[in-house]
Parts: sequence; C-alpha cells; structure tokens
Amino acid sequence: MDIDLSAQNVTKVFEEFTAVDNVSFEVENGRFFSILGPSGCGKTTLLRMIAGLTEPTKGRIEIRGENMIGISPNKRPVNLIFQHLALFPMMDVGENIAFGLQRRGEGRETIKRKVSAILDSVDLSGFDKKKIEQLSGGQQQRVAIARCLVLEPTVLLLDEPLGALDLKLREQMKVELKKLQAKIGTTFVYITHDQSEAMVMSDYVAVMHNGKFEQIDTPQNLYNKPQTPFVAQFVGDNNIWSGKIRKAEGLSAEIETDDGSVFKTKVDKALKPGLEVNLFLRPEAMVIEPDKCIEDLNRFEVIVKSILFDGANSRLLANPVNANTEILIALPQNRQYDYIQINDKIEIGWNKKSGICFKKNED
Ligand SMILES: Nc1ncnc2c1ncn2[C@@H]1O[C@H](COP(=O)(O)OP(=O)(O)O)[C@@H](O)[C@H]1O
Ligand SMILES: [Mg+2]
Repeated sequence: MDIDLSAQNVTKVFEEFTAVDNVSFEVENGRFFSILGPSGCGKTTLLRMIAGLTEPTKGRIEIRGENMIGISPNKRPVNLIFQHLALFPMMDVGENIAFGLQRRGEGRETIKRKVSAILDSVDLSGFDKKKIEQLSGGQQQRVAIARCLVLEPTVLLLDEPLGALDLKLREQMKVELKKLQAKIGTTFVYITHDQSEAMVMSDYVAVMHNGKFEQIDTPQNLYNKPQTPFVAQFVGDNNIWSGKIRKAEGLSAEIETDDGSVFKTKVDKALKPGLEVNLFLRPEAMVIEPDKCIEDLNRFEVIVKSILFDGANSRLLANPVNANTEILIALPQNRQYDYIQINDKIEIGWNKKSGICFKKNED
C-alpha cells in the first residue's frame, strides 16, 4: 500500500510547553485514520503542522514521499475542515464549492463539471443554487466536505467537524461520513475527543495523551487489547480494581485486591508476586448470576445500587459487598434480568481471560 502521510518524530514546543511530543505515524492511501484524545492533548497542533499552519519544532512530515517542512499551506496537497465550517454565507452552494477551483484558475466548463460531480457524490445533486442558510446542519457539513474534496487533496484533515452538531445529527453524520469516505476513497485524518466517533468511523485510531501517541491500532484492538492504562480507561468503560500480585505462573496470575477479593486473571507479560497492579474489567465481561456449575470463573457478590436503563446499553451500578467501590455491569436486554431490584444482592462472575492487568503507575 502507498503511504499518503508520514510523520516522524514530530514535536511542537510552545515556549516551555511541549504540545506535541515526538509523534510518529503513517497513513496508507484510502484509510480513515483518527487521532483520539481529550481536549488539550495536542490534536489541533498536530493537524496544523500537517496542514502547514504551524511549523514543527522538530521532526519530518511527508505527503506521498514529499517533504512538507517549509512548504506553504496552499502548496500542500491537503485540505482542512474545522468545526466552524467557514462556508461563505453570501454565496450559494455551487459558488462555495467552485471557489477553490476558480482561485486555481480552472476553466468554467471544468468547474461546472467538477461541482456537479462532487455534489452528486455527497448526495446533494440539484442543490447548487441553494443558499447556505437554507440547508440543515448536516447538509452544510456535506457542502464543507464537498468544497474540500473538489480540490482532490491527497489527504483531507478534519478537526472535530461534528463538534457543533446536536447528538442525533452527530450519530447520523458519523455513519454518513464513513460511507462517504469509503465511496470516494480519499485518505481522511480525523481528530476528535469522542471515542465513539473514532471507533465507528476509523480503520485505525491513534490515542493521544499529553502530546504523545499511546497506541495506534484498529478500533477492535484498542478496545480488546489496550496497551496502556490510559487507553484502557479512555476507550470504552472499564471497572478498575487496585491490588497486588499474589501468585504468578507464566501468563496466569492471582491478584489480591485492596478490598480483599482474590481474582485469577491472565496477564500479557509475567508479573512478579508483590507487584502493585490495576486490574481492568469491561462492564460486559461481568456475567450476572452465572450458573453454579461453570468452573474457572472469578465470583463475587454485589449490592445493586441503581439500574441505569439505556436500551441496549443498560447497566447496573453496584457495590461489591466487601468494598465501597462502584462498578458497572452490562445488563443484557433480553428481559431475563427484569427481576433485579435496587438493594438486591447478586453474584457476578467473570472469566480470567477478560481481565486486563497493568503495573501501577505505568503512565
Ligand atoms: N499558539 C500556542 N501557544 C501556546 N500554547 C498553545 C498554542 N496552541 C496550543 N497551545 C497549547 O497546546 C496544548 C494543545 O492544544 P491543542 O493542540 O489545541 O489541543 P487539542 O486540539 O487536543 O484540544 C494546549 O495546552 C494549548 O493550550
Ligand atoms: Mg482541538
């Protein structure tokens, strides 16, 4: 596969503060690549360096093998879409999209053909004479994207473009953007603080924290095989127990939690007895009232504190009987657990393969 974008050891220091810290990654042609991280972790700064709006303090950025350092923004084969779409309100849809082509000095007929083709591919054919204000938020999004795509960038950079939309529209646009990217095949680099956006749309996601990339992986691997405690907490929900390794044999370990439970879990690398660890367990890894005859399950009792009904994503909030921590337990929606009430004591089981264990203070 051809590499469209490559960043090597890219760093940006403002005064004393390192906003982007030695970041390296590559994006193959046609990929939907996301950079996911909390507000302030350095996402926009990184994107601005790719676009040429900020010069890196150090490092190398290449697009299709061409060095971009020192190349002005308008000479780079990239376009950038912000949350504030910056469409021209006085121009109609067609004029908005034609703007960049006119600046490039393309001919009238070519412009007409390209505008019509791109409107078609974002499902807005026939909208060219509409005013921007006549469009819905989702349609305006698509015009902003069309306005960039018509210039045929090698890479389209998107900085939290759905941030200003309401939840329902955001959910809809997630699916639309993913379909659109698959259809046109342009390489997307998408930044967001919303893990669900990144997970749903992307081929690969880089999780960013304090200016560094912690893990670059498929959404499935980020969720199932987080490499750092930060990724385990930031991507999806997790329950965390603090404890110590009691026994260890190869990749199996026994952990004594601070609240006195003993759990068996698999570990990724051998950990020594006595080591302080955090154990992460997904809400859906917990089995409610498991059959007595299932062997090899960790079991503990909890008191149900709340039933958080949310359709297919419903959970129980509960306290382990021997601890004052709170844990989340996924509640499958086949109604077989409708009998559960607040203050009930129930047994929870989990398989040792579901646990994820990190040495404490690893991050
Ligand atoms: N021009 C600047 N001068 C000084 N600090 C900046 C500048 N731009 C961004 N920062 C700082 O760099 C950090 C990362 O910012 P940013 O890249 O905008 O994060 P994100 O997009 O992930 O929210 C923040 O702490 C921000 O205050
Ligand atoms: Mg930002």
